[in-house]
Amino acid sequence: MALNVGLVGVGPVGDRLASILKERQFPMNGDLRVMATRARSEELGGETVQVNEISDEQLDGLDLVFFAGREGAKGASVLWAPTAIDKGAVVIDNASDFRMFPNVPLVVPEVNMDAVSPETKHIANPNCSTIQMVVALAPLHRAARIKRIVVSTYQSVSGWGQAAVDELLQQAPDMLDGRPPRHDPTVMRKPIAFDVLPHIDSFLPDGYTKEEHKMVNETRKILGDPNIQVTATTVRCPVMVGHAESINIETVRPLSAHEAREILSDAQRSPGVVVMDEPNTEDYAGPDEPTYPTPRDVELPEYKDAVLVGRIRQDDTVDHGLNLWVVSDNLRKGAALNAIQIAEQMLARKLL
Ligand SMILES: NC(=O)c1ccc[n+]([C@@H]2O[C@H](COP(=O)([O-])OP(=O)(O)OC[C@H]3O[C@@H](n4cnc5c(N)ncnc54)[C@H](OP(=O)(O)O)[C@@H]3O)[C@@H](O)[C@H]2O)c1
Repeated sequence: MALNVGLVGVGPVGDRLASILKERQFPMNGDLRVMATRARSEELGGETVQVNEISDEQLDGLDLVFFAGREGAKGASVLWAPTAIDKGAVVIDNASDFRMFPNVPLVVPEVNMDAVSPETKHIANPNCSTIQMVVALAPLHRAARIKRIVVSTYQSVSGWGQAAVDELLQQAPDMLDGRPPRHDPTVMRKPIAFDVLPHIDSFLPDGYTKEEHKMVNETRKILGDPNIQVTATTVRCPVMVGHAESINIETVRPLSAHEAREILSDAQRSPGVVVMDEPNTEDYAGPDEPTYPTPRDVELPEYKDAVLVGRIRQDDTVDHGLNLWVVSDNLRKGAALNAIQIAEQMLARKLL
């Protein structure tokens, strides 16, 4: 069945949504209806499209609307998602505003597609760092029940939006040319070029950031386990696209690094995961030697949609501990692709 589909927001996530809908030949009636704060033509998903100013009328007659707008009280989802739903559309929402609402399922299709029912009209797409972490950890949780997660992230600037990408593109040549880096502290508090900032989203009174809280709360909601202990440190790095995470887990049942590698290498048990875990202890074998994933790997067509896992090691400092290194494209699996996979699964289950 072909659907009337809308898109709100034309930042990096909106751009990827437009291109992945085409790439995956998502069944659409006519063109994608694109909306943002103001009308203009815009390069989106590799072609020039008409962007309309969002309004009541623009949301008429749509079956499905992907929201990829800015968050908060003046953001697209808070202002417009309820209207889109009232007018009969199903909303798949990249913003964080509604993620923890009990009646809004927070969905990663490989993990908890069953959270979506025929009554569901508003589905939240999780935070980018949370998505790649739960895709990698859900199979291990099913096998040995994870009781504690300690995660440190290495997140790319595109996770902040286009403004942070522009900052890095401007600051890197400034510094290489010996000039002080031009810098807007309302984007990132300090210049990002040639540095790393342990600061993603705003700080809360407990000393953690909102991004760190999102990783705790969203992981519990998606895994359906309010008791799982999660502690996070989220860090912005001068990388354009692709988030990496160092993850330490403790399981209830014993799970060796060998078993974890077997589970994660099994496509049935671990959909969406690709294991790249062959550290070479011999001499350098050339540029194609298999080793471990890095954010640059998500540029390769074979890895662009995957959650890449490497460096799987036993942690002998606790009873049943493991360390992993997890990498994925924050704009694709961390946002746009996950949203489209939700819609595809809803179509397959006749929920759309
Ligand atoms: N980047 C990631 O890795 C990532 C991952 C997961 C989730 N997300 C979430 O996905 C969303 C989009 O991210 P992004 O990085 O693409 O953002 P972005 O670069 O900041 O772009 C935001 C877009 O939202 C539009 N917008 C803002 N307020 C609006 C409103 N009231 N009504 C209609 N449109 C409005 C803007 O319109 P104008 O162009 O007219 O200003 C702009 O096109 C955000 O909520 C973000 O938190 C991002």
